[in-house]
Amino acid sequence: MYQYAHPNPGDHAAIEALLDLAFGHDRHKKTSYRFREGVDPLPSLNLVARQDGRLVGTIAYWPVAIGEAAVPALLLGPVAVEPALRGLGIGVTLIRRTLAKARREGHRIAVLVGDADYYTRFQFKSAEGFGIAMPGQPDRLMAKALTAGALEGVSGDIHAWRKNGRREMAA
Ligand SMILES: CC(C)(COP(=O)(O)OP(=O)(O)OC[C@H]1O[C@@H](n2cnc3c(N)ncnc32)[C@H](O)[C@@H]1OP(=O)(O)O)[C@@H](O)C(=O)NCCC(=O)NCCS
Repeated sequence: MYQYAHPNPGDHAAIEALLDLAFGHDRHKKTSYRFREGVDPLPSLNLVARQDGRLVGTIAYWPVAIGEAAVPALLLGPVAVEPALRGLGIGVTLIRRTLAKARREGHRIAVLVGDADYYTRFQFKSAEGFGIAMPGQPDRLMAKALTAGALEGVSGDIHAWRKNGRREMAA
């Protein structure tokens, strides 16, 4: 009924429009966007859902680092589904497929800013319990180990990822 695939370059405008619809035109002011500025999303984890060729869902992941040790992690999102098609399983499918792929690719930790009521079904837990924080984001931060024990001993602030491997504070 729905088709899931990597986005094409021509999908960019439709993805941006869907994200504006879901999060508002001022979404770039959200704290989580500070960790995405100047960093490319991970292409292999970009996924879109289509219905009859029309883009109806999107998910992307950005690399981030956690704590003084700059432990690599994935920042899940944004994820959005067309309003008229919510509650039909598209969001769960986008998230489950990409988390499984992330695990296969060797990623060990995922974090996100979102509603606990939704993300506990994917075994995300409050990041506070791990001592993981996102500067500027006092609540709704969640974390999940993609491989057993991946979050053990991992704590500290989330930092934006930089291509040279160094971490920097997202100011
Ligand atoms: C959140 C979102 C991506 C979920 O996609 P979806 O296709 O509607 O979700 P699914 O159909 O896969 O799952 C539906 C289930 O999630 C629940 N759900 C959806 N949004 C929820 C939320 N914000 N909090 C709690 N539960 C939520 C539904 O009640 C439903 O529960 P059920 O399975 O017990 O009936 C979609 O609703 C959306 O685009 N929302 C606006 C953008 C957003 O908030 N994105 C997430 C933050 S990054």
